[in-house]
Amino acid sequence: MEFDLSALDAKETYRLLTSCIVPRPIAWVTTIGENGVYNAAPFSYFTGVSIEPPLILFAVERRNGEKKDTVINIEKNKDFVVNLVTSTNVEQMNVTSKDFRENEDELAFAGLTPMASKVVQSPSIKESPLHMECKLDQIIEIGSSPHSLVIGEVITVTVDDELVEDGRIIMDQLHAVGRMGGKWYTNTNQLFELPRLDWRKTEIK
Ligand SMILES: Cc1cc2nc3c(=O)[nH]c(=O)nc-3n(C[C@H](O)[C@H](O)[C@H](O)COP(=O)(O)O)c2cc1C
Repeated sequence: MEFDLSALDAKETYRLLTSCIVPRPIAWVTTIGENGVYNAAPFSYFTGVSIEPPLILFAVERRNGEKKDTVINIEKNKDFVVNLVTSTNVEQMNVTSKDFRENEDELAFAGLTPMASKVVQSPSIKESPLHMECKLDQIIEIGSSPHSLVIGEVITVTVDDELVEDGRIIMDQLHAVGRMGGKWYTNTNQLFELPRLDWRKTEIK
């Protein structure tokens, strides 16, 4: 079957591409809004893009033509935290995707505990074992929809001690959750190792 994207409307295109680009990591982003109210929301248009400097980005669409609170808050305060979504906090992540009014405390509503972050003003979520504290690098508006590409520089990463061994994060203990198409998610409890080949030593037959 061939899908010609020029024949699809925006909703169909979204459905198709979010079923093709899988599994996607989820940036569970915490920010501070008006009057110091805490905000949390998941974004799965998310990836890391560079190491020097260490930049990550996520893309936020408009809601009824208006910028979402996460973007408004980051534009104002210039920082945010990306919290890891795991099999133990995934239900709470889902609650924070609800369309809240801007002065509602989304963490409290989802039964989550805000923790002071190390270097940014935005809070970290205690129920998440890994936090990337980011300062805003830039926001680029793309497309006619449009989407805000939020690019942040990771300043500090905090990880629960039991998930670190010899300075490395223990991959098969993280229980990170990824997003698939539609209502589907995936656990990461069946990891396998695949060492990189050293092509200089590999004979080509
Ligand atoms: C798993 C998941 C991933 C999501 N990914 C995105 C995304 O990449 N971009 C986006 O604009 N909205 C995404 N959403 C919807 C936002 O989380 C939702 O609109 C949220 O209410 C925005 O909150 P805010 O207004 O506090 O910023 C996602 C929702 C879920 C459940």
